[in-house]
Amino acid sequence: MTSNVAVIIGSLRQASYSRRIAQALHELAPAGMTLTELPHGDLPIYNGDLEANAPQPWERFRTGVQGFDAVLFVVPEYNRSIPGGVKNAIDVASKPNGKNLWVGKPSLVMAQSAGPLGGLAGSFALKQTLTGSGSVVMPHPEVYLGRVATLFDSDGPMVADTKEFLRGVLANFDTWISRFASR
Ligand code: FNR
Repeated sequence: MTSNVAVIIGSLRQASYSRRIAQALHELAPAGMTLTELPHGDLPIYNGDLEANAPQPWERFRTGVQGFDAVLFVVPEYNRSIPGGVKNAIDVASKPNGKNLWVGKPSLVMAQSAGPLGGLAGSFALKQTLTGSGSVVMPHPEVYLGRVATLFDSDGPMVADTKEFLRGVLANFDTWISRFASR
C-alpha cells in the first residue's frame, strides 16, 4: 500500500536531534511510505476569537493534517511534557468545533532526550493529548531514544542498531495505518 505521512518535528532549533532523527527515517521507511515534514513553528497560539478570520498558518497546517494519511511526531521532552508548540499545533487542528482533524487519524510518537529516560514523560503527555483528541496512536512498539547524542556516529549518520530498530517501527506503523487510514 502507499501512505503519505506528515512528520512533525517537535524542536524548532536548527541542529535539533529530533530533526536529525526525522531525516534518518526517510531511508528506513517501507516501500510506499512517504514522509514529509509538516511545519508548525509559525502557528499563532490558539485563540478561538481568531476563528472568524483564521490565520493563514492555521489554514495551511489544517489542510496539511487533513491531507495526510497519518502523522508521525519526533519530539524532545520539555519539562516532563511536550514542547508548547507541539501542543498548540494539536490544538489548532482540533478546532473549530465539529472540525477536529485528529479524529481517526493514525499517529506515531518517537520521543528522545539527552538523558537516559528517552523522553518517557513527554511521550506519555503527547499520547494522552493525541488520544484525547481522537487520534489512533500506535501503542507498540514504543520509541524512547535516550542519550540521543550517542545514537549518531561522530561523522553524522545514525548508528546501525537504532536504524534497524526504527526500520521495524516504521514497518509496524505501515500496518497500523492500513488498519485505520480512510481512503
Ligand atoms: C529540556 N530537556 C529535557 N530532557 C529531559 O530528559 N527531560 C526534561 O524534562 C527536559 N526538559 C527540557 C526543557 C527545555 C525547555 C529544553 C530546551 C530541554 C532536554 C531535551 O529533551 C534534550 O536536550 C533534547 O535532546 C533536545 O531535543 P532537540 O532540540 O535536539 O531536538
